[in-house]
Amino acid sequence: METLHIGVFDSGVGGLTVLKELNHLLPSASYTYFGDCARCPYGSKSASTVIRYSLENAQFLLTQGVQVLVVACNTASSVSLDRLEQTLSIPVIGTIKPTIEKIAQVTTKKRIGVIATRGTVRSQAFQREIAKRLPEAEVFATACPLFVPLVEERVTHPLIIRMIIKESLAPLKKKGIDTLVLGCTHYPILESYIREEMGPDIAIINPGKACAEELHALKRDLPTTTAQEHSEQYRFFVSDDPKRFKSTGEAFLGFALKRVLLCSL
Ligand code: DGL
Repeated sequence: METLHIGVFDSGVGGLTVLKELNHLLPSASYTYFGDCARCPYGSKSASTVIRYSLENAQFLLTQGVQVLVVACNTASSVSLDRLEQTLSIPVIGTIKPTIEKIAQVTTKKRIGVIATRGTVRSQAFQREIAKRLPEAEVFATACPLFVPLVEERVTHPLIIRMIIKESLAPLKKKGIDTLVLGCTHYPILESYIREEMGPDIAIINPGKACAEELHALKRDLPTTTAQEHSEQYRFFVSDDPKRFKSTGEAFLGFALKRVLLCSL
């Protein structure tokens, strides 16, 4: 059987929310995932550092024979997509551009909120791409640096989560947005709380979903490989602490990760 071998990288475990969406639309593909746990978080690092990390992550995935690269990390997508596209000979899909099409489809008032890491907000990548596609749109981008630790530390107390969400989204609530982009891998995990805070009327966009839809649409034009080359459907590599990745990853994905291998770049 012919199958598509998809490489996915993220700064750590968060990109599994994107893998989940990919797997939903492309269940017969095989996946090699690299989580750069040793150098996480990317959201607080400079663009040049994130570009360097992204190139190294991509090179590693190329050595694993992937045929298409998904940059699951929004911070990496924001700053390194052009470099990756220029450098690699395989197709590269990030989270930003597919999200813009989704925004264009759902926005009614063209008042768009984007929540993301500091690095993503600072890069202006969402703001720039939205302006190209919807020049009349108003974009309100807000960094929510407490959301990633909230998810990674698996805080479950609703009171604490609601307090942090309320405080972080307060600047956006006054803006009358009709669409909100969850511009960070971890935020879809908090979606129900974000929805509760922002109200039922706004459209919430998950870039991971948009990215999976884009890849699904492209699938026909991509090369495939024979299934026996990859006996396992998923292979997970991390640059640090496979145990922690495995337990957090299982909570994110809702199924057991058979093996997580440690590798140094
Ligand atoms: N994966 C990152 C992103 O989507 C969040 C975690 C980090 O800061 O590395 O922007």
